[in-house]
Amino acid sequence: MTSRGGWFVNSKHLRTCAEVVKILWIFMSLSDGYLFFKVENVHISDLYDWSDPKQKGKYSRPKLKRRESAPSGSLVHINEEKIALFRHGEKVYAMQEKCPHLGGPLHLGDIEELPDKSLCVRCPWHSWRFSLDTGRLVLPKKDKVAITFPVTVDAEGNISIGFLEFASDYFSGSGEF
Ligand code: FES
Repeated sequence: MTSRGGWFVNSKHLRTCAEVVKILWIFMSLSDGYLFFKVENVHISDLYDWSDPKQKGKYSRPKLKRRESAPSGSLVHINEEKIALFRHGEKVYAMQEKCPHLGGPLHLGDIEELPDKSLCVRCPWHSWRFSLDTGRLVLPKKDKVAITFPVTVDAEGNISIGFLEFASDYFSGSGEF
């Protein structure tokens, strides 16, 4: 950290100390080159569990589609990214919220099992299917990829999402926390 041009001490763009402390608090860990951000106000139990047949009656799809983010937490805004979260059993997947085709809301997509038993999300607009593990488009066969993010879930069910870097807006004063 320097007083000249350092990313941390640039008085023109630096947020208040309290905000920086908050950023550092959010910054949970560094693992495999990823910065993990804790998802605030969303617990794994808030997410619809696609592996649980009993939940299918609890949240009917027509009802879900009328809501911006349903059930709670399936769409989150973190590190200046809108991210779709999906739960399948104890595993949580994170993927860019906008479909790489024409921008459909992937967080409202259904999760389906592929013949090889892996999972994909089906975009609600034109039914393109993206692998939850890799983000690759599996149907139709085209060369498209949705960005996926590594996710950790701790013993208390808290979710963290990994990013390769802070969004640039974090230190410019133009972004939101
Ligand atoms: S916008 Fe998602 S498949 Fe077309």
